[in-house]
Amino acid sequence: MKFLTKILALLLLLGSLRISYAVEFEETIDTIEIRKAAMQNLWQRIKRLSPYVELKEKVEYNKDLAVTDAQEVINLLEQTKNLWPLNSNISGKGFTNATPAIWVLPDYFEKLYSSAEKSAYILKQSILDDDIDSTISAMCNLGTSCGTCHANFRRLLTSQLANEVSGWSGQYVNGCK
Ligand code: HEC
Repeated sequence: MKFLTKILALLLLLGSLRISYAVEFEETIDTIEIRKAAMQNLWQRIKRLSPYVELKEKVEYNKDLAVTDAQEVINLLEQTKNLWPLNSNISGKGFTNATPAIWVLPDYFEKLYSSAEKSAYILKQSILDDDIDSTISAMCNLGTSCGTCHANFRRLLTSQLANEVSGWSGQYVNGCK
């Protein structure tokens, strides 16, 4: 009888362990989805900003919107900074394109985050100041940070190559040095 109780307790324990493992896994997948969505949102903001930075006038886009977009880039970088828990290192299983290098070189990863944030702050301030040269150089530096991070830490799928070249490689405006 005692033996049976022990077995039963063990089975119950194993069952609850499995449930908590499943919940944790779901949370990890959610985290990956959130960071991907935020990255896509970053790209949308950059895409809207680029013509403005290059002085290609668009009637429906103005300085206020440009400042809002630059602020949103700052917010999104801030929000995504902590969305890289170790248990989301599962590119081998195909759940993410974030490469294991992130967890091997966390300092370099964070450094690229900081330089992206710094450029985003300068971008916003330069737009506010109507400083064209500084706006362009901030946008170029931001692109370099996004692009360098992707080159080092994001797995590139052949099917996404066309998109990558236009979008995530970091060439966001012409005339970068
Ligand atoms: C410090 C590193 C880093 C910086 C800075 C960074 N990214 Fe990313 N980005 C990543 C990683 C890693 C992934 C892969 C995420 C994944 O698959 O879980 C990614 C994914 C993406 C994706 C694809 C999302 C998807 O649907 O799979 C886009 C688009 C993107 N980034 C745009 C940007 C833009 C635009 C910037 C700059 C304004 C930027 N990123 C800055 C590291 C970075």
